Amino acid sequence: MYSTTQTFTTMKKNNITLGEFIIDKQTEFQYSSGELSKLINSIRLAAKVVNYEVNKAGLVDILGASDNINIQGEQQQKLDVYANEVFMQALINREIVCGIASEEDDHYITIKGKNNDHNNKYVVLMDPLDGSSNIDVNVSVGTIFSIYRRISPEGTPVQEIDFLQKGSQQVAAGYVVYGTSTMLVYTTGHGVNGFTLNPAIGTFYLSHPNMEYPKDGTIYSINEGNYIHFPQGVKDYLKYCQKEEGDRPYTSRYIGSLVSDFHRNMIKGGIYIYPTSTKAPKGKLRLLYEANPMAFLAEQAKGAATDGYQRILDIQPTALHQRVPFFCGSKNMVAKAGEFMKLYPQDSSY
Ligand code: AHG
Ligand code: MN
Ligand code: MN
Repeated sequence: MYSTTQTFTTMKKNNITLGEFIIDKQTEFQYSSGELSKLINSIRLAAKVVNYEVNKAGLVDILGASDNINIQGEQQQKLDVYANEVFMQALINREIVCGIASEEDDHYITIKGKNNDHNNKYVVLMDPLDGSSNIDVNVSVGTIFSIYRRISPEGTPVQEIDFLQKGSQQVAAGYVVYGTSTMLVYTTGHGVNGFTLNPAIGTFYLSHPNMEYPKDGTIYSINEGNYIHFPQGVKDYLKYCQKEEGDRPYTSRYIGSLVSDFHRNMIKGGIYIYPTSTKAPKGKLRLLYEANPMAFLAEQAKGAATDGYQRILDIQPTALHQRVPFFCGSKNMVAKAGEFMKLYPQDSSY
């Protein structure tokens, strides 16, 4: 029997809200402090709206496929389209963003400033709903975002070069995971902090300050059904993960939502791999709005992210929707996978 005085849920003391945290950390941002607050605030707002919709997805007619096929040739889900619209609107209304590129739109969109000018300074790239094939079965999905300062002159319309910057130039990046609880996790280049939504009052609280990958981990996350199609370096690394020796064999965990797989691995220690394969010769994940923001977060959390050979954040992008193989996680695990990859020449088709 439990006593009536026993509490089953206790709020952590000194709860800091995301709003308070943004103001506290404003001075860390290398550019104007108010700009960062506006940007993160717009993402915070959109995250709450999408969270509300994702949570009642089974109750309303928003599950399933829409009539559209996106630029990747993939069927868009209704929630993909909805999340895209919510994030677009939230970002457009803040008069700070001059352009947005999204997984769901073939081309980037240009956003005008307050006086119909082109003075806004930031571009946002996003995957509005990641892991969307999981929606219909009530499994965690996410949103990924990546933010750069424009390099084309202010006052002129945004250009493609503003979006095709190396990941190392990101000024902020993050994700929202709509999971058993909803979290917003982001970095501005000063570590990674995670905030959990209290759904009763619609407020994000700092629940995971200074998130860091354990240097080593025992989880590997990969769609192993594609094993036969993987490069030899990946096959050899998987055999290494499965070998009985020391803390191996490792545990295999794969949700099929990059955001959720990344989130778990960052907390517990692990590696996520989406390699090239004979089926997907360039890999599956998109460099600009999946790999780059996650790589920025990973490095800020003392982890690592490569394409199997080189640092993701050093890759010069050439196209908005380009794909890249992705190895991301605990530093020592990514290094070990790299050792196996380097024994074979890098696939020239990638
Ligand atoms: P999206 O839903 O944005 O298209 O992304 C899905 C991605 C990623 O989240 C996930 O890790 C991967 O696709 C799963 O792919 P497989 O089903 O090929 O394993
Ligand atoms: Mn995705
Ligand atoms: Mn998506």
